[in-house]
Amino acid sequence: MKRHDEVTDPVSNHQTDSHADVESRSGRLAKESKAPADRPDPGAHGAAVTLEDVSISFGDHIAVRNVTLQMPARQVTALVGPSGCGKTSVLRAVNRLHDHTGGAVRGTVRLGSLDVYGPDVQPEVLRSRIGMVFQRPNPFPTMSIFDNVISGLRFNGVHNKRLLREMGIAALHNAALWDIVKDRLSQPAVRLSGGQQQRLCIARALAIEPEVLLMDEPCSALDPVATAKIEDLIRHLSGEVTIALVTHNMFQAARVSDNVAVFLLGDDRVGELVEVGPTDRVFDTPNDARTKAYVTGHVG
Ligand SMILES: Nc1ncnc2c1ncn2[C@@H]1O[C@H](COP(=O)(O)OP(=O)(O)OP(=O)(O)O)[C@@H](O)[C@H]1O
Ligand SMILES: [Mg+2]
Repeated sequence: MKRHDEVTDPVSNHQTDSHADVESRSGRLAKESKAPADRPDPGAHGAAVTLEDVSISFGDHIAVRNVTLQMPARQVTALVGPSGCGKTSVLRAVNRLHDHTGGAVRGTVRLGSLDVYGPDVQPEVLRSRIGMVFQRPNPFPTMSIFDNVISGLRFNGVHNKRLLREMGIAALHNAALWDIVKDRLSQPAVRLSGGQQQRLCIARALAIEPEVLLMDEPCSALDPVATAKIEDLIRHLSGEVTIALVTHNMFQAARVSDNVAVFLLGDDRVGELVEVGPTDRVFDTPNDARTKAYVTGHVG
């Protein structure tokens, strides 16, 4: 069996280096590689995400109404609430995915000081700063494992093979997938199990070294061991990256988040944010009776 530092990768056919080397160097090289145009707000690494009076609707249906929420920089904010209350819709508003699904976003969304829906903002440039992990794993089916990981980097204009190799390997390590895939990087991604595919998608999101990571129930397809690894990863990343984590698992929210935003469905079936605050406070002494009923499992 090959040792980690003896592995030959499919991108460059060069020997790979130790994890620590790769991690430290890839971060430095990534910064070197990014032209100012790629980073509209270069001082804002791990920028806060702010929603001010945001409503999202699909045709006549209002999914979620009047959400004002700050996701502090370099912290984990968990979005919890029953099915259909608008958690995914809120997440997708942050990187402008509703531009493609017919959803209408009203109000203001900010990434740091940047008005996400401002007239000069190009969604592709915005998304080069924001990684997203979807509810269901969605690797590109025609691409190899490694090409999936580096696809976002390529899209962002990184073509240096050495850099792609280093950043891709670092992302696979960070997603706790390296040991599983290191000997089959050229194989089609769809040959991985569902849980492995989800970790591949996490690696793909991490590879671009995002300032913000939007994670929509990232562990719903994972077993407890893989879930624990992803939770470790989330904790490890917080402090560097701003993370919005949608989860139905209150224990997970309690374990990994700094803040919790509780969404519920109003009487008119429109989603609303009923409470937000530090995780311990919201779970231990919620201000809103509906929050208490939800987080203790009495409704929802
Ligand atoms: N593209 C779309 N077109 C029409 N309606 C949509 C669309 N996306 C979401 N909705 C509607 O918006 C509401 C909120 O959906 P959303 O997916 O945001 O909920 P959620 O809180 O993420 O639910 P879940 O926990 O089940 O994932 C639902 O009523 C849903 O049917
Ligand atoms: Mg959802």
